[in-house]
Amino acid sequence: MASVWWPCLILALLSGLAASGFPRSPFQLLGKRSLPEGVADGIEVYSTKINSKVTSRFAHNVVTTRAVNRADTAKEASFDVELPKTAFITNFTLTIDGVTYPGNVKEKEVAKKQYEKAVSQGKTAGLVKASGRKLEKFTVSVNVAAGSKVTFELTYEELLKRHKGKYEMYLKVQPKQLVKHFKIDVDIFEPQGISMLDAEASFITNDLLGSALTKSFSGKKGHVSFKPSLDQQRSCPTCTDSLLNGDFTITYDVNRESPGNVQIVNGYFVHFFAPQGLPVVPKNVAFVIDISGSMAGRKLEQTKEALLRILEDMKEEDYLNFILFSGDVSTWKERLVQATPENLQEARMFVKSMEDKGMTNINDGLLRGISMLNKAREEHRVPERSTSIVIMLTDGDANVGESRPEKIQENVRNAIGGKFPLYNLGFGNNLNYNFLENMALENHGFARRIYEDSDADLQLQGFYEEVANPLLTGVEMEYPENAILGLTQNTYQHFYDGSEIVVAGRLVGEDVNSFKADVKGHGATNDLTFTEEVDMKEMEKALQERDYIFGNYIERLWAYLTIEQLLEKRKNAHGEEKENLTAQALDLSLKYHFVTPLTSMVVTKPEDNEDERAIADKPGEGGDSHTGEPRHVLPDQLPASSKPLLPRGWGPPLHHPSSGERRCPLLQHQ
Ligand SMILES: *[C@@H]1O[C@H](CO)[C@@H](O)[C@H](O)[C@H]1NC(C)=O
Ligand SMILES: *[C@@H]1O[C@H](CO)[C@@H](O)[C@H](O)[C@H]1NC(C)=O
Repeated sequence: MASVWWPCLILALLSGLAASGFPRSPFQLLGKRSLPEGVADGIEVYSTKINSKVTSRFAHNVVTTRAVNRADTAKEASFDVELPKTAFITNFTLTIDGVTYPGNVKEKEVAKKQYEKAVSQGKTAGLVKASGRKLEKFTVSVNVAAGSKVTFELTYEELLKRHKGKYEMYLKVQPKQLVKHFKIDVDIFEPQGISMLDAEASFITNDLLGSALTKSFSGKKGHVSFKPSLDQQRSCPTCTDSLLNGDFTITYDVNRESPGNVQIVNGYFVHFFAPQGLPVVPKNVAFVIDISGSMAGRKLEQTKEALLRILEDMKEEDYLNFILFSGDVSTWKERLVQATPENLQEARMFVKSMEDKGMTNINDGLLRGISMLNKAREEHRVPERSTSIVIMLTDGDANVGESRPEKIQENVRNAIGGKFPLYNLGFGNNLNYNFLENMALENHGFARRIYEDSDADLQLQGFYEEVANPLLTGVEMEYPENAILGLTQNTYQHFYDGSEIVVAGRLVGEDVNSFKADVKGHGATNDLTFTEEVDMKEMEKALQERDYIFGNYIERLWAYLTIEQLLEKRKNAHGEEKENLTAQALDLSLKYHFVTPLTSMVVTKPEDNEDERAIADKPGEGGDSHTGEPRHVLPDQLPASSKPLLPRGWGPPLHHPSSGERRCPLLQHQ
């Protein structure tokens, strides 16, 4: 196969010459070298750095990998980064022998045309695809001439969300070979002050922990660094393979002396709201559970396990019922009952006796649960100051009774009437996740996928814990009228313990001397108002660490949040409204350089716009997020959206079966 690449190799090398200006003989190609350690198939990755700066929960991450081709012939160097699904890629550059090829964000359609053209010319591109539960994988490979160096640099940004009392930042570490200079460096700056900080790695031993990992925090600053030496990376003292393979997780939280915190920088504000120590609002829960035939076996067992543990957590003020659906609907009790010890005992017996049968009637199951909650409220059988929620779990699509997704959505929307949230849990991959997500979103809830795995019961329980403790309902955040533009979502049906509400916007006037925010909500015992008055002088003092902060973080945080919310809203919009939401989200994605489901990253060869290639796209959890078409994602199948963008490596293809013509590497000067 190597012979195929001879003409190309020489061209690539010549391009290196032109770029670096160092005259090198093409005959160097033939020189023999003994390969040092940490060289896989001729490519030595000699440096990998992950640099993160987190400012007020907004994380800016740069992953840089440097490699050199130690082989005598051109080799493919690949660069893989797994990043959180909730992150947006904002930059990618490739530097070959000192020449940098920068990334640009373009509208997806435009990028796609360029991409298709490139593919039709035998050129291929990088891609991003879903990888596991929380991550997406960015992959690109490039053909590197013998002796040449390549640097990959990927930047992505993410707003860290608070779950169960902590912000979590998740880095996947997988260098696949020993790397001479390997380093993770994380700087955190939180104006409220850091209250706890931890870092752990799934692959690390205590020995390694001691010297390679450092973590510290004091006042507003936190730092984590992980710098294993070559010897510390070895999976055993004489091994040449790397032990670094797994998850590197940083968790932290901030001080919460007041219920909220407002920050204003460069004309943008952000308001973080997470009051502490409020009593829990009692809840009325309808568990609507799929017991169709496909749930048989482990899935049903795990569901039972999870429900039994959830029952342990129920408080005596709570009300509940189980609504089981298959071809038809059956319920544990006629109506909601209080979680008294006797009722809970009976509930446990009921859960243990659940058996699978028949088809999937989602519509009737949900409507029964919703009407039970409505009735209990109308008949004053649940506490006045309580809140209702529907939790629906299914592992398949509706196939009996009303089974048209739009119609089920309409029925459910009408039955709930905006009064309480619906949470949809999709168990496994054999279902229409977009439908579940759209339905949950339009009823103020959200959807989660439960992965078919040995820990599915823990995933279910983990979801429940997030919504188990509502502290406020009907939360409304109010800001000075006429002073704010582009306000992000400012009403929330619930504030759950351990979470945080984040609202951002743009200030109209340049000179702001004072800023006041009011938050209203219904608590367990009374209605509450929290007022946040910002003393601009104090705040400026708090944000003085300019060197620690990357400048316009609030503006970018605002853009991130706005795009995220526009994309969510767009899922249930139609016609003109949908076009409008799409246009707004696209404008912001382009302006702020975010790779969202509407844009792609294109890497441009300098002085030659013809040779652009799409390199990064964003897949959705549930299918083609670009068209919004619901797609079925079957087990072991990639989301449909990533399929058209699946070609391998970015260098020349190794085979070119259709034409006898030989294509050369892309990244060369003429
Ligand atoms: C992308 O990264 C390159 C290399 O670090 C940098 O020069 C360029 O300014 C960045 N582009 C944007 C839009 O941030
Ligand atoms: C979307 O609609 C709003 C109000 O209906 C309008 O002000 C705005 O200009 C529209 N945006 C776009 C991008 O069409």
